[in-house]
Amino acid sequence: MHEGLKDIEGFEISFHEKSKRIVNIKIENQIIERLIFPFKKFDLTALEYKPFTRFTIAKSLNDIASGELGNIINSILRNRNTGCFIIGPKNLSSKLNKNFLVKLSTAITYLIGNPNHDAMADKYYARFHVRHEDDSDSYLRKAYINMDLHTDGTYVKEKTDWLLMSKLEEENAQGGETYLLHLDDWEHLNDLFKNEIGKQNFIWGSPKSKNIDYKVEHPVFSEDQNGNPQISYIDQFPEPKNMEQGLFLQKLSDALEESENKIIFPLTVGSTMVANNYFWLHGRKPFKENKNLSRELLRIRGSFFNN
Ligand SMILES: [Fe+2]
Repeated sequence: MHEGLKDIEGFEISFHEKSKRIVNIKIENQIIERLIFPFKKFDLTALEYKPFTRFTIAKSLNDIASGELGNIINSILRNRNTGCFIIGPKNLSSKLNKNFLVKLSTAITYLIGNPNHDAMADKYYARFHVRHEDDSDSYLRKAYINMDLHTDGTYVKEKTDWLLMSKLEEENAQGGETYLLHLDDWEHLNDLFKNEIGKQNFIWGSPKSKNIDYKVEHPVFSEDQNGNPQISYIDQFPEPKNMEQGLFLQKLSDALEESENKIIFPLTVGSTMVANNYFWLHGRKPFKENKNLSRELLRIRGSFFNN
């Protein structure tokens, strides 16, 4: 039992070894075994075509977790001091194939909120590979380039309260660590948050592969109901209107990347990371070059059920 953390039978819940802002939830084998049967009831097509089936598997997961998992993960995500958790099987076994992991990610999602339609994949989730070669038009699949700190959903109309990322596969990968930064740990937050330019509207577009045919306008910084700073930012998609917006974004980008308070860790295969998208930024370190590099991620972004 850890201070401030509740226990659920069959789950190991603790703070992440690198930060007390991240909660680690390990699912023990007995729970995985009990999930296999309810998860078998639906194949991925059923989950994709019939949204109510996703609620059914989420209910199964929560029931098997003594009816407590939903409450716990929602309070972690909404708590400004944490806002992030990593959940996954304690032991990887052959039963944990990709289908199982997609279902587990779906079940976790539907304890939190409704996913946004992912236009890139034309589904409620997207799966994508990072490989040695890439000819795409965004940093998402560029294995050997740093993916700088950002939030998700900057260029879409839908609310993006949270994001979920699951690692489905990783082969011949060195480097490629996930890195995260909590806004309140950022050395330059005060300086940049009080800069008026960050509160101006910026135009946000996106490259072709994202399948979004409109642009949106919103500021980089805003405040939540309690006056806490929130950020909506990614380097590639804002279209600065003038010199002052351009220079502000450059300063912001530099100040984020040079932070000493980033939390850097490898996300292990089978693990899922879920973060509040208003005060956590995420990024990825470059991989070491390898012709056989293959990594597959699943992502889901969405809004909370009760806003
Ligand atoms: Fe992202």
